[in-house]
Amino acid sequence: MQRVVTTALEEGKETKEAPTPFRTAQPSRSFPLRLLQFFLVFLIFGLCASMVSMYMIRHFGIHNKNLMMPLIQSSSCYKPCFKEKASVESWIRPPPSLLHSMNDTELFWRATFVPAIKDYPYHRVPRIAFMFLTKGPLPLATIWERFFKGHEDLYSIYVHSPPSYNDEFSPSSAFYRRQIPSQPTEWGTMSMCDSERRLLANAMLDLSNEYFILLSESCIPIQNFTTVYNYVSQSQHSFMGSFDEPGPYGRGRYNEHMAPLINLEDWRKGPQWFEVNRELAVRIVQDRDYYPKFRDFCKPHTCYVDEHYFQTMLTINTPHLLANRSLTYVDWSRGGAHPVTFVKQDIEEEFFRKILQQHTCSYNGQPSSLCFLFARKFAPDAINAILDIASKALGI
Ligand SMILES: *[C@@H]1O[C@H](CO)[C@@H](O)[C@H](O)[C@H]1NC(C)=O
Ligand SMILES: *[C@@H]1O[C@H](CO)[C@@H](O)[C@H](O)[C@H]1NC(C)=O
Ligand SMILES: *[C@@H]1O[C@H](CO)[C@@H](O)[C@H](O)[C@H]1NC(C)=O
Repeated sequence: MQRVVTTALEEGKETKEAPTPFRTAQPSRSFPLRLLQFFLVFLIFGLCASMVSMYMIRHFGIHNKNLMMPLIQSSSCYKPCFKEKASVESWIRPPPSLLHSMNDTELFWRATFVPAIKDYPYHRVPRIAFMFLTKGPLPLATIWERFFKGHEDLYSIYVHSPPSYNDEFSPSSAFYRRQIPSQPTEWGTMSMCDSERRLLANAMLDLSNEYFILLSESCIPIQNFTTVYNYVSQSQHSFMGSFDEPGPYGRGRYNEHMAPLINLEDWRKGPQWFEVNRELAVRIVQDRDYYPKFRDFCKPHTCYVDEHYFQTMLTINTPHLLANRSLTYVDWSRGGAHPVTFVKQDIEEEFFRKILQQHTCSYNGQPSSLCFLFARKFAPDAINAILDIASKALGI
C-alpha cells in the first residue's frame, strides 16, 4: 500500500516541477491511468482500514470507544459485538461514583431491592456505613481519619451536607469524594428524616454495607475501629434509642390523628443518632404508611419527627430487633433544650475515663460496661486537644 502511495506522490511532484513535453503531448493516455491508480490506492486503503478495525473491535472490545466511534456507528453489528457477558461481579460491584441523577423516588426504589436467597454466592465481608449528616464542614475529620486507618475493607463513608457546600478533602483522605447528592435540611422538620433516608438509600446501593451508623459533624469515636466493628456486628439488636416517656416532651407530643396506625402506647421517643442493620434500613427507606402520619401530625414546635418517627415505627414493627439505646454518648446534665457542647478546656483524660467506665447497659442480654462507641457534642476548637490525648485515653 505504502509503495503505491509513494509512487503516486513522486509522480505528482515530478509532473508539477518538471512537466515533460511527452506528458503534455499525450494527456488522453495518462489521464485514465492516473484515475485507475488513485482508485486502487483508495480501495487498498479502505480494505486495510476495515480489516484493522475488525481486528481491534474483536480484540480490544469497547476500550477504544472514542477512536472507533465512526466505524462502530456505521457497523450494523454494534450491539451483539460489544455485549459484555454479565458475571455475578457486575451485580455486586458498588457504583463507581457516589454521584447519580436519581431523585428520591427513584433512589429509594432502587435501594430497597432485597435478594430473596439469603446465602450470598460469594465471599461477602459486611461493612459498616458511617453516615455523616452535617450542616457544612467536618471539623473533627482528623480523629475519624485516624480511627479508620488500616480498615479500608470494613467501612464506607457517606456525607450529606447542604447542597451548596463542597468539601475539599485530598485524595488521600477517607472523606475524599464521599458527599452524596443532597437536599436542603431543616432541623426538626420532615426534611431531616428525608435526609437520613437519603443517606441510608445511598449507602444501601453498595451491597457490602450491612450496618448503618448515623453521625453528625460534632461526633467523635471513643473506641478503636476493631472494638466498634465487633460490637456492632456481633450484636443481636440494632442500636436505636427508643423509650416510652410520660409528660409533655414524650407522650405529650402524640397526636390522636395518628390512630389507629399508631396508638399512644406505641409512641416512642429517642435520640436521632442510630445504628441499624440492613433489614431495618430497608424498612425505614421503604415506609409509605407511617411517613404521612408523621409528616402531617408531628411538626415543630409541638413535635420533632427525628425524635419519634423511626423509633415509633420500628418499635411497632420489629421491637425484638431493637436495643432501645443509642451508641452515642451525650450529656444532658446541664439542662435546657440542647445537650452540652464540649470545648477544648473539657478535654482531659479524666473526662473520657468517666464516659468509658461509669455506665452499665445490656448487650445481647448480658450486663456490660461497654455502652458507648461514639460521643457528642464537640466544638470544632476541641480537635487538637482530642488528637493530643486520643491515643492514650481512647486507644485511637
Ligand atoms: C422523580 O421523578 C419521577 C419521574 O420523573 C417522578 O414521577 C417523581 O415524582 C419524582 N420524585 C420526586 C421526589 O421528585
Ligand atoms: C482496641 O481496643 C480494645 C479494647 O480497648 C483493645 O483490647 C484492643 O487491643 C484494641 N485494638 C487495637 C487494634 O488497637
Ligand atoms: C426494646 O423495646 C421493645 C418494646 O418497647 C421490647 O419488645 C424489646 O424487647 C426491647 N429490647 C430489648 C433488647 O430489651
